[in-house]
Amino acid sequence: MSGDARKTAEGLSYLSGFGNEHASEAVPGALPEGRNSPQRAPLGLYAEQLSGSAFTEPRAHNRRSWLYRIRPSAAHPAFTLTGNGAIRTAPFTEAVPDPNRLRWNPLPQPPAGTDFLGGLWTLGGNGDAAQRSGMAVHLYHANSSMERVFSDADGELLIVPERGGLLLHTEFGRLHVEPAEVALIPRGVRFRVELLDETARGYVCENYGAPFQLPDLGPIGANGLANARDFRAPVAAYEDVDGPVEVVNKFCGNLWTAAYAHSPLDVVAWHGNHVPYVYDLRRFNVIGSISYDHPDPSIFTVLTSPSDTPGLAGVDFVVFAPRWLVGEDTFRPPYFHRNVMSEYMGLIEGAYDAKAEGFVPGGGSLHNMMSAHGPDRETFDRASAAELRPQKIDDGLAFMFETRWPLTLTPQAAGAEHLQQRYDDVWQGLERHFRLS
Ligand SMILES: [Fe+2]
Repeated sequence: MSGDARKTAEGLSYLSGFGNEHASEAVPGALPEGRNSPQRAPLGLYAEQLSGSAFTEPRAHNRRSWLYRIRPSAAHPAFTLTGNGAIRTAPFTEAVPDPNRLRWNPLPQPPAGTDFLGGLWTLGGNGDAAQRSGMAVHLYHANSSMERVFSDADGELLIVPERGGLLLHTEFGRLHVEPAEVALIPRGVRFRVELLDETARGYVCENYGAPFQLPDLGPIGANGLANARDFRAPVAAYEDVDGPVEVVNKFCGNLWTAAYAHSPLDVVAWHGNHVPYVYDLRRFNVIGSISYDHPDPSIFTVLTSPSDTPGLAGVDFVVFAPRWLVGEDTFRPPYFHRNVMSEYMGLIEGAYDAKAEGFVPGGGSLHNMMSAHGPDRETFDRASAAELRPQKIDDGLAFMFETRWPLTLTPQAAGAEHLQQRYDDVWQGLERHFRLS
């Protein structure tokens, strides 16, 4: 796609902090002053509230935005059911939950003319979308820009591009997101994905639960990990387009379609805190040990979706960003472990320091609840014998969707041709070294 398309996304504002109020107007004077729903909104616009939380949730968790638009969202014909493609939704009950360690190669090439929505392919998940709990792991592979507009009533979408830039045309304005950045589309927000390169590939966490938020920092203090000031919100931009425009709505697991007589991306001004955003993972401030051992990977949490159990996340988004390793007398790669949480891991670029080979960009691995995993033999041998000088890990960018409930696969993921058949071999040859003296 042209360089001009990339420029249209410039002029992003920075969110000054989660939970705070943000505002933007594409036309001066479009945003009413002093009230949300005046008798007559400026410029003949319609005022509309979009809720991201129940009205009565505590202020710290309350999310809503006010949209000032050319036509109210209510002006649309009936939706009708349409095909779900390769998208599946919780509860995931079609396959037997699998305790094995599993790894996939990247998705195969899609047919020509596949857009972001058509290229979404569900790997699995947990919870129940209608109960607003749990999450789904999707991958996407697209080679065509969307003409249609999509919204997801089932959850928010955390988009993690691995290949190809995206220009997200949202109700709130445009967001430009590249590999090594992530974008979040809140529940219910309409958007269209324009490809900025010939193909686009990546991962999506569909979070049915509480919206992602920044983790508390505890003794880390007021700064560190992902800093609130680095989250970029769009500047208001609108489409004044008469239809027909196809709008697809994901609702309780099914896709529904309607032909609007206008573009629903017609918001001229907005304010609120239920807002799409982009975050550059390279800005993540990595915190680690400067003595010995290394912290648990929770120290790499970018965003967390709390569950109804205090301190226990429904899903965490974790990034393994470039960092220095300086621990003395320390096995520096990720240690062997079994985890009550379930881990889906993807690779955006380069390599991951716990695997010598087989884990490639665009692929992914699943280490479900209590499955035993850790470094492969080659990594173990190398790290056990390495001379422990300060070492920069800067040749890869991996991430994890870590969730409190086991992940159940879809049948298409359990039977995929790109599922690796001999992943267990990674841990073969870990020889006995035990001796009594
Ligand atoms: Fe793990």
